[in-house]
Amino acid sequence: MANVSIKENVYWIGVNDRTTDLFEGIWPISKEGVSYNSYLIKDKKKMIIDLSKAIKTDVFFDHIAEEVPLDEIDYVVVNHVEPDHTGVLRTLKRMAPRLTILCTPKARQMLENYYGPGGNIREVKNGEELDTGDRVLKFVYTPFVHWPETMMTYDTKEKILFSCDGFGSYGALRGAIFDDGCKDLAFYTQESLRYYVNIVAKFSKPVLNAIEKLKDVPVEIIAPSHGLIWRKTPGTIIDLYKKWAEYATGKTEPGVTLVYGSMYGNTEMMMNAVAQGITGEGVDVEIFDAARTHVSYILPHLWIKNSVMIGAPTYEGGLFPPVAQVLEMAALKRVINKKAAMFGSYSWSGGALKRIKEIIEPVGWDLTDTFEFAGGPLGDDLNKGEEFGAAFARRVK
Ligand code: FEO
Repeated sequence: MANVSIKENVYWIGVNDRTTDLFEGIWPISKEGVSYNSYLIKDKKKMIIDLSKAIKTDVFFDHIAEEVPLDEIDYVVVNHVEPDHTGVLRTLKRMAPRLTILCTPKARQMLENYYGPGGNIREVKNGEELDTGDRVLKFVYTPFVHWPETMMTYDTKEKILFSCDGFGSYGALRGAIFDDGCKDLAFYTQESLRYYVNIVAKFSKPVLNAIEKLKDVPVEIIAPSHGLIWRKTPGTIIDLYKKWAEYATGKTEPGVTLVYGSMYGNTEMMMNAVAQGITGEGVDVEIFDAARTHVSYILPHLWIKNSVMIGAPTYEGGLFPPVAQVLEMAALKRVINKKAAMFGSYSWSGGALKRIKEIIEPVGWDLTDTFEFAGGPLGDDLNKGEEFGAAFARRVK
């Protein structure tokens, strides 16, 4: 994509990534893509705000050079050290001899850990302002949105908040880079939620702190490091992030996320009966086969709904591994305080339930209902399963 002017002398110079399969080496983006939004300010002082992963580096440096010769770049603001924001930094340092890196004190050490010593680094204070000739930029510490060294940069002239990972999204840019030019806001909203839960949700309290800290700052444009730039309705993405962060405090929606796995179809048969029982009570249920659905796509539902039904057979005396992986990731991501139930088949001994408890009790899931059965569902087992689902639904309504 070519550079895009955001305001006079402010440009998007990012990189659109449609070839990386896994963001952070974990999260699938092969269908959705992602953008590494970088911004260039061309005042008396020339400044870049956030960089790009070390991918398509020729494209990235061409973007810079279209606006400013590299040897005239004065500053790069490193809002965040994670390599999707800084991967080209080592090369930039070589090519831009005047360069001063602006970052938080915490970021300095992290930069040296990733890219080695050297380079002209200047630590900025929380609230510090920098005059670039035609505008004043303000640096606002926002620790743990997403790493401890993270900050945001605010353009006081144009009221643009360069918000780094905050308010970001998966999804490569599809021609349009602004919300007002985008014909598929539902896609970016969905991918913002998936990104939020995959990447940021564990740090929901810091997200709420950052939103509170910025609440009196007039923001006309939200320019994050990933996904759409919000200039028509910047409040939309702020409100969504606030809502999602508040789910961490227990303000979740009624509904059941049913995560199951099945070796020979017996637990799956029971899953259908249980789901019938849940929906028969008028409660929403989303069903995920843990062996065939990446946890990236399951986490958003676990995050926003108040209840979880776990369907899993015992596997070699423990929990069926695909289901275990989903629950372990949910616990790692601080999906907390759910109402939960468990059903599943076993062959000669149980064991799944014990492992489930080990994973979910530390994150406050209240598991009250269990229904394990030997082998396949026989007799009136499926009727019992339907009633099991219905009873759970009545409890979580
Ligand atoms: Fe966009 Fe925390 O990296």
